[in-house]
Amino acid sequence: MVELDWKNLPFGYIKTDFNVRCTYKDGKWGELEVSDSEYFPIHIAATALHYGQEAFEGMKAYRGKDGKVRLFRWDENAKRMQRSAEGILMAKIPDHLFHDAVVKAVKLNEKFVPPYGTGASLYIRPLLFGSGAEVGVRPAKEYTFIIFVTPVGPYFKEGFNPVRIAIVRDSDRAAPLGTGTLKVGGNYAASLRGVERAHKAGYGSPMYLDAKEKKYIDEIGAANFFGVKNNTYITPKSESILPSITNMSLIQLAQDLGLKVERRPIAEDELSSFEEVGACGTAAVISPIGEIADLDSGKVYQYCKNGKPGPISTKLYETLVGIQYGDVEDRHSWVTIIE
Ligand code: PLP
Ligand code: COI
Repeated sequence: MVELDWKNLPFGYIKTDFNVRCTYKDGKWGELEVSDSEYFPIHIAATALHYGQEAFEGMKAYRGKDGKVRLFRWDENAKRMQRSAEGILMAKIPDHLFHDAVVKAVKLNEKFVPPYGTGASLYIRPLLFGSGAEVGVRPAKEYTFIIFVTPVGPYFKEGFNPVRIAIVRDSDRAAPLGTGTLKVGGNYAASLRGVERAHKAGYGSPMYLDAKEKKYIDEIGAANFFGVKNNTYITPKSESILPSITNMSLIQLAQDLGLKVERRPIAEDELSSFEEVGACGTAAVISPIGEIADLDSGKVYQYCKNGKPGPISTKLYETLVGIQYGDVEDRHSWVTIIE
């Protein structure tokens, strides 16, 4: 184990020992290679650099009380990366290659998997991009797949404490029939102005409304949105949000807890009726929301008035994190132990 201030890790980049790489050429994937370099030589005409032909994933490895290292629903990340590849015409990574690359990257850097009980985890970042040269706008013929890992603490400095969110109306991260449902770099480039605006106004993340009508909630920065009222877990249905694996899991856990679940458009107005609201994602886990401010209309919605996350968000958080670290029974077979 390396010496790091595990309990105070930021959500940021810390160099680890190795990353893994693989190249797609002449219609097939080559062998997985291990590198100790943080750099990658790239052709100046690579489609990733010019036309944004790039997708990534975000997942985590968790060390349990038993010292074992666990992955959470890695197959869903593999599937989503395949959908992203399809969406922007890249070569797809087969499940077995995705799995072997993740396991290799984690094992080679095992000493960076944070100790149990520190609240930290090893963030795994697979990326896939067009590395072949083209000048016309067309898909590359060569692709590169890389996985690096980095130990991380909470995405929001608040951890499992209420965060403040700002609705931004002067930029959109994705269009309804665009790439919003894919985890492609271009969406994040498009979100940067919103992120900056929220940060400058003193908020943790922007909330995007649907691009067409600016009426319904889409998502929050790099996380999905959920609200709870009348024993019901409600989360947006939209053509421009990323299908979150965390959200999908919370829907199941909410049902297990006896809550009703609704996936439907949620108008901004409805925000005033929720008992609890939160942001969810791999990085964000569950971040309870204490305030949502519409920066343009001046409207403010407040939650967690006693300063504490609500009871349902807390139960969902404890169950999800418990499963991920191996403390709660994995009834849905979501966890893979890395042997
Ligand atoms: N929405 C966006 C835009 C994201 O970047 C992420 C992070 O991956 C999520 C939602 C949450 O998805 P997941 O729970 O699969 O990490
Ligand atoms: C994740 O939750 O894995 C994300 O992708 C967040 C990230 C864009 C920082």
